[in-house]
Amino acid sequence: MIILGVESSCDETAAAVVKDGTTILSSVVASSTTMHRRYGGIVPEIAARAQLQCILPTIQESLREAKLQYRDIDTFAVTHGPGLIGSLLIGVETIKTLAMATNKPVIPVNHVIAHMFANALNPQSPVSFPAISLVVSGGHTELFLMKSWKDITWLGGTLDDAAGEAFDKSARLLGFENLGGPAIQRAASLHHPEVGKRILLPRPMNTADSLQFSFSGLKTAIFREWQKHKHSPEVVSAFANEIQEAITDVLVKKTLNAAEKYEAVAILLSGGVAANTRLRQKMLAQINSTLPKTSLHVPPVSLCTDNAAYIAAYAALKGTPTDWGNIRAIPDLSVEKNI
Ligand code: KG4
Ligand code: ZN
Repeated sequence: MIILGVESSCDETAAAVVKDGTTILSSVVASSTTMHRRYGGIVPEIAARAQLQCILPTIQESLREAKLQYRDIDTFAVTHGPGLIGSLLIGVETIKTLAMATNKPVIPVNHVIAHMFANALNPQSPVSFPAISLVVSGGHTELFLMKSWKDITWLGGTLDDAAGEAFDKSARLLGFENLGGPAIQRAASLHHPEVGKRILLPRPMNTADSLQFSFSGLKTAIFREWQKHKHSPEVVSAFANEIQEAITDVLVKKTLNAAEKYEAVAILLSGGVAANTRLRQKMLAQINSTLPKTSLHVPPVSLCTDNAAYIAAYAALKGTPTDWGNIRAIPDLSVEKNI
């Protein structure tokens, strides 16, 4: 089955063609990230206008790269939520129009749950179940129990800020422009352990029994600690390192707690924050030392951040085809119940 997927829930516009939910024939991503830099965050109106201009060329390019035409596509798939309404509408209405014109079905996709399907796009490393899936992105920090690609239960999430948001907001405090996570990771790699000794941040809600997260208190703690120091490049790197350690410590601990509780044989990471090298290292080291029979699945960096390949993979492995007339953009689509 050949699916053409489209993703436009935030500032990216992406299209991909995927065969049988596992093989990427093409994946194209256009981003308006640099256009938002001087505003310190994504401006929905700017994102939507850019998406309106590039959605059709992006879809055309995905077909060209796959060496296919519309007639070769079995089904369309599109993110219908959660996300920014203006951005979602562009992907949803474009796909509805293509589906109507070509008389093909559409599969609506939940963007957050779809992130974990990036781990289905590696046929060499099939996932065994039960698995625990951690989705960590700019807007979400969610833990799920997976009994199969179709049987997914939400276990817990953040009570306030997402992990990616914590990276992005603290990066701004440290003086970096947007793309906070990669900036913190880069700065942290330059830190000097002696300077870092003086900077200590809390690991919020790291209690054993809760699978909920909270990162907004960490932001306040970072701000208070930041005011106590002179801001030399060494101190900036030491802060970046401690911020990365605090966030990743919590993510690793909660994920392993869930894996132990549900006797998971696999752990799946996905979402933009799963691109973080330290998170990947720490998760692997902890699994090896405490749950050696559990395998870790992490997508390549290009499949962690927003793209349409995992949208098409979700559609193939979990989605339900429907008529274009039944689909609408739902900005607050739930990840807890909509499974
Ligand atoms: O999944 P994604 O591309 O978009 C959403 O669905 O939100 O995630 C974007 C988030 C941003 O907060 C970004 O700072 C973070 O992923 N991110 C990282 C890294 N690369 C992207 N966070 C930490 N380390 C990274 N290397
Ligand atoms: Zn995302």
